Amino acid sequence: MKAWVVRRLGGPETMRFEDVDSGAPTDGMARIAIKASAINYFDALMVAGQYQTKPDLPFVPGVEVSGVIESAPAGSKLNEGDRVAALLDSGGLTRGGYAEIADALPAAIHRLPDAMPFDDAAAFTLIFQTAWFGLHRRANLQSGENLLVHAGAGGVGSAAIQVGKAAGATVIATAGSDEKTQICRQLGADHAINYKTEDFAEEVERLTGGRGADVIFDPVGGDVYDRSTKCIAFEGRIVIVGFTSGRIPQAATNHVLVKNYSVVGLHWGLYSRRAPELIPAATKALMDLYAAGKLKPLISAHLPLAEAPKALAMVAGGKSTGKVILTI
Ligand SMILES: NC(=O)c1ccc[n+]([C@@H]2O[C@H](COP(=O)([O-])OP(=O)(O)OC[C@H]3O[C@@H](n4cnc5c(N)ncnc54)[C@H](OP(=O)(O)O)[C@@H]3O)[C@@H](O)[C@H]2O)c1
Repeated sequence: MKAWVVRRLGGPETMRFEDVDSGAPTDGMARIAIKASAINYFDALMVAGQYQTKPDLPFVPGVEVSGVIESAPAGSKLNEGDRVAALLDSGGLTRGGYAEIADALPAAIHRLPDAMPFDDAAAFTLIFQTAWFGLHRRANLQSGENLLVHAGAGGVGSAAIQVGKAAGATVIATAGSDEKTQICRQLGADHAINYKTEDFAEEVERLTGGRGADVIFDPVGGDVYDRSTKCIAFEGRIVIVGFTSGRIPQAATNHVLVKNYSVVGLHWGLYSRRAPELIPAATKALMDLYAAGKLKPLISAHLPLAEAPKALAMVAGGKSTGKVILTI
């Protein structure tokens, strides 16, 4: 089978498109013929050796796939021909999803509703689970609250806008261009601010009548986190999701005290290891919202597997909106 292999760490261009012997799946693993594979921002960090988990070289990147079951272990309740989506283990990643075939544990695989296309399925899990756990589990978002979503046209941001609207929040989104703020509005944001041309903290204060944002969903960090502390509401919650700005901000705990707000971290992958029993309820709620037409992954580009370095560079450079999908 064809797969993109990382033999030395670096930018997307260091990956090589190789013929890889897929062998037989190891005991207990199901085999998936991949139809769509999602690019995630952290794939670029992993290829560069800058992510918290560092797979041994060589490895094939990509953790989020959808496709068709080719074979499954006995007793797994999966059958040949089932349409499925799967998350591949980023910790022990050796053969990930930038490939024609992937193997996964049955527990990491779920069947797709007939009406869900493969590209939506590959794009869905990580962004919507992250938004769900961040907003509901960590921030306890309530209907009627003001939610500020940073990088609202990005992968997790676009999901957070939709999950926030479905929860009954008033959603304010920020993004780095007028084109992206337009996308935020199309996703359902009540207000969208181009943070490169406007001071979003002042705008949030104005839009909320001085109350500020009850919940702030922050995948960007750096200056965006610092400014967020100026428009967080009394008893507000800032959810730390990522650091695409490249700078990990420091929380001023005296300010946290003086304004009575909370800074909460979210590492969704840790739920899958430490509290996996919480995930099925979130999956059901998210799939119900998808079926009801309230959630739809934002997909800005489909590229063939052979163009994976270009796709990864688009995401790593902040040029993409929503998700970029490799099709096989
Ligand atoms: N905590 C978790 O469990 C979890 C789960 C999934 C993802 N994440 C993290 O969340 C972050 C966002 O992931 P994503 O998949 O949504 O990424 P994405 O689709 O690439 O979106 C990131 C957005 O960040 C903004 N940005 C600001 N400064 C940037 C810079 N210097 N370079 C690139 N982008 C920049 C860009 O939007 P603007 O142009 O609008 O600024 C960009 O669209 C990543 O750090 C990822 O690792 C965390």
